[in-house]
Amino acid sequence: MPRLTRRDLLKSALAATVGGAALAALPRCAGARTRAAAVPGGRERLLLDPNWRFAFGHASNPAYDFGFGSGNDWDKVGEFLDPSSARFDASAWRTLDLPHDWAVELPFENAEELKDHGYKPIGRSYPATSIGWYRRVFRIPEADQGRRLFLDFDGVYRDAIVALNGHYLGRNLSGYSPFCFDITDYVSYGGDNVLVVRADATEREGWFYEGAGIYRHVWLTKTHPLHVAAGSTFVSSEVHAAAGAGATVTVRTEAANESDDALTCQAVATILAPSGRTVATVRSAIAPVPAWERRAITLRLNVPRPNLWSLETPHLYRLVLTLVVDGGRGAGASGASGAAGTEVDREETAFGIRTIRFDAEQGFFLNGRHVEIQGTCNHQDHAGVGSALPDRLQAYRVERLKAFGCNAYRTSHNPPTAELLDACDRLGMLVLDETRLFASVEEGLSQLERLIRRDRNHPSVIAWSLENEEWFVQGNDRGGRIAATMLRLVRRLDPTRPVTAAMNGGWGSRVTELMDVQGFNYENRGAPADNVDAIHRRFPGKPMWGTEVASTVSTRGIYANDEARGYLSAYDRNKPPWGATAEEWWTRFAARPWLAGGFVWTGFDYRGEPTPYAWPCISSHFGILDTCGFPKDLFFYYKAWWGTEPVLHLFPHWNWQGREGRDVEVWCHSNLDRVELLLNGTSLGARDVPRNGHVTWNVPYAPGTLEARGFRGGQQVLTATRRTAGAPARIALTPDRASIDANGEDVCVVTVEVRDAGGLVAPVADNLVTFRVTGSGKLIGVGSGDPSSHESDKGDTRRAFNGLCCAIVQAGREAGELRVEASSPGLEGATLVVRCRAAAARPAVP
Ligand code: GAL
Repeated sequence: MPRLTRRDLLKSALAATVGGAALAALPRCAGARTRAAAVPGGRERLLLDPNWRFAFGHASNPAYDFGFGSGNDWDKVGEFLDPSSARFDASAWRTLDLPHDWAVELPFENAEELKDHGYKPIGRSYPATSIGWYRRVFRIPEADQGRRLFLDFDGVYRDAIVALNGHYLGRNLSGYSPFCFDITDYVSYGGDNVLVVRADATEREGWFYEGAGIYRHVWLTKTHPLHVAAGSTFVSSEVHAAAGAGATVTVRTEAANESDDALTCQAVATILAPSGRTVATVRSAIAPVPAWERRAITLRLNVPRPNLWSLETPHLYRLVLTLVVDGGRGAGASGASGAAGTEVDREETAFGIRTIRFDAEQGFFLNGRHVEIQGTCNHQDHAGVGSALPDRLQAYRVERLKAFGCNAYRTSHNPPTAELLDACDRLGMLVLDETRLFASVEEGLSQLERLIRRDRNHPSVIAWSLENEEWFVQGNDRGGRIAATMLRLVRRLDPTRPVTAAMNGGWGSRVTELMDVQGFNYENRGAPADNVDAIHRRFPGKPMWGTEVASTVSTRGIYANDEARGYLSAYDRNKPPWGATAEEWWTRFAARPWLAGGFVWTGFDYRGEPTPYAWPCISSHFGILDTCGFPKDLFFYYKAWWGTEPVLHLFPHWNWQGREGRDVEVWCHSNLDRVELLLNGTSLGARDVPRNGHVTWNVPYAPGTLEARGFRGGQQVLTATRRTAGAPARIALTPDRASIDANGEDVCVVTVEVRDAGGLVAPVADNLVTFRVTGSGKLIGVGSGDPSSHESDKGDTRRAFNGLCCAIVQAGREAGELRVEASSPGLEGATLVVRCRAAAARPAVP
């Protein structure tokens, strides 16, 4: 532990702090003094997810909304929201753990107004299922006296009103932005504290399924009065071109003194290499932080021979930032006496060292190497869980995207959860991080600021997106003024990343002039003067990319459009008027090196926005993967042209009973030179595979074996077969991982296949599978990727869709075995044992 000497203090008084400057004073408290002296403990971050109570309120009738709206909530402080009183009896409320999405639990309802949000009864017309109340009772020990206490909400959908012990804490409109309250003045020490959140999902923020409720984590953070100010730490790096010069890492942060004592502090920054080895340490000058003020601190460290963060090797460094306080000497009138040289705060930040650059002629460069942006746009919901994803599912989804060569993720059209970015950092996935509200008023700027402060240390994030298709303003001067104000904020908070706008018109306007990289949603959408080539000619110095492309629609395992059932064929053929097939857009982009690449709409199917068919279809079909993450045939198109391995994918399935002798269209997605097709051993001819294209045959159906032989350089390198499967006979279960952590949060995704007696997946099987989960965990959701299924995601049964469905199981806190039994009438059932290994649960509020 470093001790501060008198000499250090004198030195610091003479020399300016390293980049230090006093910031605006914090509000000064009158009355009881807030003393920094002898405050115990450093920073603690406790998960506040377990053990909540939940009940529906009512959007129009106070009698069913726990009195909210009857008119007296605001009369006197201390009686705000009846359920936040200690006397309130919540025993009839349901018990649950966060994250929680109540929308996914609701039944589907066929009403046009609900279509975009996946036909869940939420909105003005559904007052009884649009308001959710959450209540959590927790203790704050007497020993926490003197510490600063904060509640952090990672995301609540939406319009959350929060109260603690009968006091209003605040209101947060955004369903996506994190928010925080300082609750130090409102807690009961040594007693129960009642936290209440009323979430109002009647209004929407987007035209897609958004979920409802506290669907991200909640944290209780405790700090010493002198602490690193929330969101103030910004780590950036500069990689030096000269051999052996390494990288300079710049750490900007703020020390906040939230006490009546004038304090003196030193910041110590240590960088740990991916191996855990310490590679650099630096101390700031020792400087006073007056009572209720903040001090900015800038530190620079050199990292010799850095391991750069890249897609293939996503090396992560850790910054450990500590604050050491010496409260006695140099203190103000209060004469506080914090223990000399005591470490009072420690904050850890993962970061990567890498360079990014957009070039108007050649596209995007990571660490000086050209990288084509092979991106997907994604919403945040997943089968079985709606928008309340356990953290592991974020990584699972990123892994699924990487499996077909996707290297970039656009968080359309809203701030993501922090754990998605953690997964992208760890797994090597670039991110275009987007705010929801294109606005330069306080609300819009606040959402943008919270996004940037939270996300700017993630190496995966390569650009900020200010908007999506804001067609009322993207092409006019008002839009330009809004963008200019937002841009000033971005530059202040993060001068290291470019800014883009996902526009579907208005190119060439002031917004275009302001953007570092021009985004195109559907590059061939506009009039000739507005298409991507014309804009490139007008702005030859401006980098450009496809912020949204494709919108190809297809349903997994379906090979003919079926409006009645809401299905679309999986050949690369269906698209809305503004969209393109995979082959069309990718061929266009591949021929234009000045386009940095594009983001396909979408990686995963998502609830809501069924296109072009509506009810009974409740999900979109834009995904390369379905809502479970099962690949559609297009997965292999992208894997062929985006990936690095040889690909030979033959489709459709070969179960066309009743269509004997009639032509079936057979396709191959492949990156090989030439493919030969055989049916039951007889050659149907060979075809050359066009670059970025596919090959096809019309084959009169006869049951048996369809075989594709793929050649490269004249050599046969791959074979793919489709055999006619027999009747469904048994179930097979495959986990994404054989063992998971018994930490109460980890999940295993179980793929369920319906197979014939010989082990082939029965490609049109729709057997109803029942799950029984016992042992050290529980079932948290089921899905099948069927965009027209009205089954519950939360039930314990699911009908297979074209041979597949899935179950998501979550570990408890006891190590042991988690047994998943799957059964179905007439089929041989299956049992899977997932090992739940002993693992520490994250520190949580009891
Ligand atoms: C875009 C829009 C997306 C989605 C998509 C469907 O215009 O930005 O959110 O609606 O169309 O094709």
